Amino acid sequence: MAPNCPEEVDVFTIPHSRMKELVKKYLNMVSEINFADISHLTNLLENLVNTFKEFKAHEQIENKYIMKKLKDKLRTLSVRNTAVCNCHSDNQLTDILELVQDGYKCTQKTEVDRKNFGTKLRKALEDFTETFIPHMEEEEEVFQPMLIKYFTTDELRRIKFKVLEKHFCQ
Ligand code: FEO
Repeated sequence: MAPNCPEEVDVFTIPHSRMKELVKKYLNMVSEINFADISHLTNLLENLVNTFKEFKAHEQIENKYIMKKLKDKLRTLSVRNTAVCNCHSDNQLTDILELVQDGYKCTQKTEVDRKNFGTKLRKALEDFTETFIPHMEEEEEVFQPMLIKYFTTDELRRIKFKVLEKHFCQ
C-alpha cells in the first residue's frame, strides 16, 4: 500500500491483493507440479490462461481508468512524466499466454518434451514475477502519490469506484 494513503482514495491496493493472490497460487502450483503428468499439466495451463487473462484485464483497467486520466491531467498541467506513459509498455503478459498455448501442444508430445517445457515455463513465470511485483509496488508508491497530488478526493473516489467495479463486478 502507498505510504499514508487514505483508503477511500487508494486505487491500487485492493486489485493488487487479488493479483498477488493469483501470483502466489501459480507459484505454488508450478513448484509442485509433475510436468510429465498430462492431467497436472492441463490443469496448470488452464489456471495460467485464466490468471494471465485476469492480469491483462487488470492492466487494461489501469490504462483506461487510471493512467490515461493521470496522463491527461499532467498534460493539462504541463507536467512531463514519461514513467506514466511507459509503465505497461512491454509484452510480457502476451508472451506468457503464447508460451502457455505452446504447453497445450506438449500434451501430445513425449514426457521429455513436457519436462523441458516445464523448465522453460517455470523460468518464464519466475522472470515475470520478478518484474510484476516491483511493478505493482511502483504503482502504489509512485503513481498513487501522484494521483493524490493532482486529483481531488472526489475525483479519486470516483476513479476507485470505477476501478473496483471493472475488476470485481463484471
Ligand atoms: Fe497494477 Fe499495472 O499492475
